[in-house]
Amino acid sequence: MLLPAMAAAQGTVQPGDAAAGKVAFKRCASCHQVGPAARGAFGPQLNGIVGRKAGATADYRYSPAMKQSGIVWTEQKLAAFLKSPSEVVPDNQMRFWGIGDERQIANLVAYLRTQR
Ligand code: HEC
Repeated sequence: MLLPAMAAAQGTVQPGDAAAGKVAFKRCASCHQVGPAARGAFGPQLNGIVGRKAGATADYRYSPAMKQSGIVWTEQKLAAFLKSPSEVVPDNQMRFWGIGDERQIANLVAYLRTQR
């Protein structure tokens, strides 16, 4: 049996519901902005995050761990990160425990995919 984190790492992200993901994004919005006016705030802005390199926005000061992670945020990587940020990027600065509910993670990834 695969652990969910391993399943996510191996590319089996379930299809999510972007509308539900928008609601779930309230958990992120205290630190992250999306949309036309988004800019780096407490956390980096997340427009176009699906497919973006980690640590790549110009107006945000990332931790060395994030900048040097070498990650490209595929849907699988994002899902794994949202489940357990400190496992995917050890020593990163995001003060967030991670989300246990796979469905909510899938919804968030689906929502973020719509934010370009
Ligand atoms: C308490 C504030 C906080 C919350 C809540 C939070 N984040 Fe973050 N996030 C950060 C910070 C700070 C960073 C930068 C980390 C670093 O540089 O090490 C970050 C980084 C990220 C990155 C990497 C961005 C990049 O440009 O590489 C992603 C993706 C991300 N967060 C997604 C989310 C999502 C989705 C949520 C909601 C489920 C969330 N975060 C909740 C503060 C937060």
